[in-house]
Amino acid sequence: MQITFILKNNTERTVDFVEGQTILQVAEDNRIALHGACEGFGVCGGCHVVIENLPDKLPESTDLENDALDRVGGVTMHSRLACQLPLNNSLNGLRIKLL
Ligand code: FES
Repeated sequence: MQITFILKNNTERTVDFVEGQTILQVAEDNRIALHGACEGFGVCGGCHVVIENLPDKLPESTDLENDALDRVGGVTMHSRLACQLPLNNSLNGLRIKLL
């Protein structure tokens, strides 16, 4: 299973993931620059990304995630926190834009 990161310079990297990993963990495993100061606890908002496809396959965002997104700039209706999105096979082919 694979997901694609759209990097800040608009190049793309498609990488493998294992079910249960979060988007943030996959980025870190592949040395893709996506960092959050809270190390995945969903409070800093530093791992803010924009999801480009499969919106109906994503889990609902939690109050924790929504509160963190409220504190960051540039939020869109497809904004999510990479640390709060565990991946599964229905998200194979997901495209994630880094900000
Ligand atoms: S790493 Fe801090 S909110 Fe995701």
